[in-house]
Amino acid sequence: MTPRIHGLAKRALEHLQAGTTDQADDILQLPVAMYTDPQRYQREVQRIFRELPIAAALSLELPEAGSWKAMNLMDFPLLLVRGEDQIVRAFLNVCRHRGAQVCAEGRGKSRVFACPYHAWVYDQKGQLTGRYAAETFGEVDASQYGLTSLTCAEKSGVVFVILTPHRTFDIHRWLGEFADEIGTLDLTHWHLFEQRDLPGPGWKVTMDGYLEAYHHNIVHGRTVGQFTIGNLLVLDTWGPHQRLTFGRKSLPELAAQPEGEWQPDTHVRLIHSCFPNLSISGILGDHCLVSQIFPGKTPDTTITRQTVLSAKAPQTEDELAATRTFSAMTLQAVRDEDYAIGFSIQNAILSGANEHFLIGRNEPAVQNYHRWVAYFARSNAGAEW
Ligand code: FES
Ligand SMILES: [Fe+2]
Repeated sequence: MTPRIHGLAKRALEHLQAGTTDQADDILQLPVAMYTDPQRYQREVQRIFRELPIAAALSLELPEAGSWKAMNLMDFPLLLVRGEDQIVRAFLNVCRHRGAQVCAEGRGKSRVFACPYHAWVYDQKGQLTGRYAAETFGEVDASQYGLTSLTCAEKSGVVFVILTPHRTFDIHRWLGEFADEIGTLDLTHWHLFEQRDLPGPGWKVTMDGYLEAYHHNIVHGRTVGQFTIGNLLVLDTWGPHQRLTFGRKSLPELAAQPEGEWQPDTHVRLIHSCFPNLSISGILGDHCLVSQIFPGKTPDTTITRQTVLSAKAPQTEDELAATRTFSAMTLQAVRDEDYAIGFSIQNAILSGANEHFLIGRNEPAVQNYHRWVAYFARSNAGAEW
């Protein structure tokens, strides 16, 4: 038992007994244009998703020297490689000869990367180390034609990248003490069970659902709502990053036990929300759902990368069945419940029914999120971080 979880369980129990929840000072009126205006959308995606560090991958996806992952993030072809020195580097996965994507999407292990078009070869540091038939091509200064690198930092089991070349960041400044908070999850030691991409409604409609417990009993009665208490939130913030603590249905049991005997981690559920698009959700003790939400080309679409982790690789049939059940339940909860509602919002958002949405006092994390979006959308606010 950690004092941290003990304190969170105590706060959650107090809310449960009083019928209360953490609250914002006021209801927030959010103009619907914040969700729909295409110019605003382009500016926000640029300032927030391309000019701030975003969680591109988990460290455990790049387990050893030579491990690589190639993926498309919001139309940026990205290649992550762990070098022999154990450092993870990020590159645009684009050949410097004539722009072919060097590596097919996926994960693997390799010492070098050969372009599939004319076989120019790059090493784990992105340096151009070979050119097919170089003597016929003509002279090229290899030092000027390595893969375009992106600023990258690995912290607390997460690989952060800025998608704009030449833009830098200080990961300690960006995460602050939230890095230690994510560190408590010990993410590098989990087992990657499954990963999938889900199409979803617009970015803000999607994110809102990750940041409140108000809808849980209503939307998730047959899935994750079986395990958590609806509309009870304990909220802590570190700048734009937030930790949401929900009570599990067993929370009332604590009231009957002496505090010294509490096993509080079985009675609460934590969600770590790292601005702007990462949510790490420990729904049941030995399983975890990591969600990365990426805006689509237009304000009405997203792709969510769902990664299902188990505390260790399932060994027995029972363990395998338990992990499969967890994975299926999270898929159902998000795709068939959250995103079904999200699409219904999205499909009616231009109807003119609402000029603004109301974000309740019981939805403080949603309020915080939108305030930080507005802050970073301001000219160059991200450079201050
Ligand atoms: S485009 Fe890569 S070698 Fe020609
Ligand atoms: Fe939900």
